[in-house]
Amino acid sequence: MALIVGQIEAVTGRRVWDSRGRPTIEVEIRCSGGATGRAIAPAGASRGRAEAVDLRDGGPKLGGLGVQRALANVGALVQPALRGLDISDQATIDQRLRELDPSPNLERLGGNVAVAASLACAWAAAATVQRPLWRYLLGETVPVIPLPEIQIFGGGAHASRRLDLQDLMVVCPGATSFDEALEWTAEIYLAAGRLMAERGALAGVADEGGWWPHFDSNEDALATLTRAIEATGRQAGQDVAIALDVAASELVRDGHYHLDLDGVTLDSEAMGDRVLDWCRRFPVISVEDPLGEDDMEGLSRFTAAAKQLGVQVVGDDALVTSASRVKAAAAGGWVDTLLLKPNQAGTLTAAAEALAAARAADFGCIASARSGETEDVSIVHLAVGWGIAQLKVGSITRGERTAKWNEVLRIEDATGAGLARPFP
Ligand code: PGA
Ligand code: ZN
Repeated sequence: MALIVGQIEAVTGRRVWDSRGRPTIEVEIRCSGGATGRAIAPAGASRGRAEAVDLRDGGPKLGGLGVQRALANVGALVQPALRGLDISDQATIDQRLRELDPSPNLERLGGNVAVAASLACAWAAAATVQRPLWRYLLGETVPVIPLPEIQIFGGGAHASRRLDLQDLMVVCPGATSFDEALEWTAEIYLAAGRLMAERGALAGVADEGGWWPHFDSNEDALATLTRAIEATGRQAGQDVAIALDVAASELVRDGHYHLDLDGVTLDSEAMGDRVLDWCRRFPVISVEDPLGEDDMEGLSRFTAAAKQLGVQVVGDDALVTSASRVKAAAAGGWVDTLLLKPNQAGTLTAAAEALAAARAADFGCIASARSGETEDVSIVHLAVGWGIAQLKVGSITRGERTAKWNEVLRIEDATGAGLARPFP
């Protein structure tokens, strides 16, 4: 009798821990024939309102962040729904997961349960044919290595709001390889640390490993980052440029944008103008969420102006890795680039649909990790496997970040693939 290889036999969950010391879930899949796959759900801190939500226990224990209910769902719901399915049929697997919870934000099943199960299946499917996940997803297409966006200073929700801007990152369009881009970035990270130390402002790191943002103003942070780039002898704006995540939804109170560090309250137009002014005066090449997730008019106005400056406008909170939102964004001109976070979508299939919508709209794409992360490297394999040209996983320090950058280095080494060139 022929052995059937690649049917899902067992789905198990376990509690593991993320980079903020919070519990999260890992799902492990075992198939007939012995192949296994596993994945861990990441967790965001500045979440879009429309993204899939994690199922947490609430109550006093672990700050309410326990995952016992999520783990119970893995055993009671996911295992019976997926058992016997063909592991190579990701669409049906994800459809079954969606049928367990038709609510738009997966509040009953848990976005954390869905994404860990969906990704674990993809890993198991790749294992059944003994291929790396990126190669399994890409097929015979020639791989391209994504250009990294790497955090130097953390801020916003990742640094107790010590700085209004959430993420000050660098991108190295002038680098000839991923390896070189990391070397340049490491030099900039060290230079930024020296500059902070010289002014007595070195105070540890924020959630994603970027330096803690001890600044007098948001502009001071931008100027310091520019100086750090220049201190390494690289041409700011040419070799190396700045990418900002304003995460502006977090700045909205009473219908206005509050830049608390600068002591100003701005309406949508003034907020957009302020960010555009930073784009003109500093070597900024990319801006994420410059205005709030509900401020479509402001986003459209901003994106039209940013286009004139050659600045990429990235939608995180406003798009939440949703195909229908990407289509609306394309029609309304809100942004021109999708930030793809699989756990916002809940399943791999839904994330792939958002990517397909982005490509149909001629949008760029950045694959992104979350601020709460682990050693899981799924996002790297999705980025390469889906041919996504940019990758954002935080700073160049801390194991949950370097696990991902180092995985890209291994793929670059194994394939000799060239670095993507999303910026002409
Ligand atoms: P989050 O933020 O993972 O904390 O939600 C990351 C981002 O805004 O890009
Ligand atoms: Zn963001």
